[in-house]
Amino acid sequence: MAAVKEYVLKTPPGGVKNIDQEALCDLLKIDDPSRVIFEQARGEAVVRVFPTNPLMHMRPATVADLTMDARGRIVVGAYYDGSPLRIRLFDPKTGNAQRMAIFGTTGAGKSRALQSVLAACKRSGIVVHLADLKEGQSVPEAVGNVATRVTTQKGAIRLLRRLVDEAERRMKAYGEMGRSGFILGDPDPLMYGVIDEANRLLEKGAPYRDEAAGLIKELGRTGRSVGVGIILAAQAGHLEEMGGSDTLRGMLKEGEVILLRWSSAMMAQLVSDGLLPRGESLQPIPKVVGQVRRIRRWNEAADEDEDEPNSQGMCYHLTSSRPTSMARFFLVGSIAPCRGHDPVILALYGYGPPPGKPFDLDDAPDPEGDVPGGAPAASGRPSVPTTAEVIPPGPVTLADRITAALAGGPLTEADLLAAVNADGHKQIKRGSLRTRVSDLRRDGVIGPPSGGLVTLA
Ligand SMILES: Nc1ncnc2c1ncn2[C@@H]1O[C@H](COP(=O)(O)OP(=O)(O)OP(=O)(O)O)[C@@H](O)[C@H]1O
Ligand SMILES: [Mg+2]
Repeated sequence: MAAVKEYVLKTPPGGVKNIDQEALCDLLKIDDPSRVIFEQARGEAVVRVFPTNPLMHMRPATVADLTMDARGRIVVGAYYDGSPLRIRLFDPKTGNAQRMAIFGTTGAGKSRALQSVLAACKRSGIVVHLADLKEGQSVPEAVGNVATRVTTQKGAIRLLRRLVDEAERRMKAYGEMGRSGFILGDPDPLMYGVIDEANRLLEKGAPYRDEAAGLIKELGRTGRSVGVGIILAAQAGHLEEMGGSDTLRGMLKEGEVILLRWSSAMMAQLVSDGLLPRGESLQPIPKVVGQVRRIRRWNEAADEDEDEPNSQGMCYHLTSSRPTSMARFFLVGSIAPCRGHDPVILALYGYGPPPGKPFDLDDAPDPEGDVPGGAPAASGRPSVPTTAEVIPPGPVTLADRITAALAGGPLTEADLLAAVNADGHKQIKRGSLRTRVSDLRRDGVIGPPSGGLVTLA
C-alpha cells in the first residue's frame, strides 16, 4: 500500500469550525475527498491523505469480535487508522447496564449495526427483548434469536412496561438481599430492551409517545443499576422527535451514542442537544465514497455504479474517547441480497435458543384507549431456561444443525446448505444434506416441500 501522508497543524483556540473539505482537498491537490481524513482535538489537527479511503473495505464481523470481553465490551468495527471500534454492553466496575442509541438517516446502516449488537448479546448470554417497528422487516434474522420479539407499537409499549416491572422486581430483590448493585449472572442475567425504528414510537403524534418516553426514561434511570438496559436505533436527528428532549439527552450523554450518516438537519441539532461537544466538527460521511467529481465531456458515459451508496456503516462513536474519528462497522451479512433470512447473519447469531425467557405480554393490561385483542406474538420459540452463560458451541448432529437453520423460516436447499455450512461446525456436502433432509421429512420434523422451500413441520 502506498504511504499515508500526514500533516499536523496547530488550530486556533476553540478549534476550526465548519471545515471546508473541498477547499482542503484543493489545497492538497486531491480529487477524491474521501481519501482525506481530518481529526482535531485540543489545539491540534491531523490531516491524513490515504491512497484510497481506508474504510472502503471492511472485513466481516466474527463471533470473537462479538463476544463480550472481561471489560464488558464488544468490537463492532474499526476506526480509519485500523484500531478497533468498541462499544460497551456492560460496565463490570459499576455493575451497570448501558444505554445506547444508534442514529442515522435512512439506509445508513442502523439495522445492520443493531444486528451485530443483537448477535453479540446472544453470544454473550445477554437477554434481549426486541421491538422491530418496521413490521419485523428491519432485523428479520432476530426471530428465534432473542427472548421476545414484537413488531407493533402496542407490543413495544407492553415490552417496555415489562422491562420496567423487571427492573423494579430486581431492585426490591437486591434490596432484600442487602446488595447495592447488580452482579452479572448472579442471580439475574444482563437484559436489554432493544427498539429499532424507535422514532416511530416516540415521534410527535405517535399513539403511545408519552408513555413510551416515560418508560424509557425510567429504564435509563433505574434499570441501569440492576442490569436492565435500553438500546434504540432511530432515524431521528433531533431529540424532540425522540419523545422530547429531556427523555434522551441525559440518558445519552452518559450512554453509548453512534452516529451513522446523517441528514443535513441532524448535525446542528446534535450540537444543540449537547450530544456533540461544541467546537468539534465531524467530517461528513458522503452517501457515495470514492467518486471523483469532475465535469464530464460530451457523450462520455458515467460509471455504472456512480450513484450507488457505498458508505453504509460508516460512523462516529460520539461518546467514546475518539468522538471525531471516522469509523465503520464490520460487514454484517451477505453482500448479495437474500431471498429469505441471511445465512451469514444467522451464523453470526449461532444456532440454539437465545438466552432468557420470553416476556408474557398477553396478560399485560391494555394501554389506555386500546381495543382488546390483537396481542403481539412473543418469539415463536417455546420458553427456555434462563441462562446467563455463553452458549457453548457443543457437539451437534446434522439434524440439529438443519432444524436450527430452519428455525428462522423456510429456506431453499441452496440457502439451507449455505446456512448449515456457515454455522461454525463441520462442512457438509449437498448429498449428505439431501439424505438427512429426507430422513427428517420421513420423521415428520420437516414439512413437505413447498414451492421449492424446505420448511419445518
Ligand atoms: N455493516 C454492514 N455490513 C454489510 N452491509 C451493510 C452494513 N450496513 C449497511 N449495509 C447495507 O446497507 C443496507 C441498509 O442498511 P440498514 O438496513 O442497516 O440501514 P438502516 O439505517 O436501518 O435503514 P432504514 O432507515 O431503511 O431502516 C443494507 O441492506 C445492507 O445492504
Ligand atoms: Mg433499519
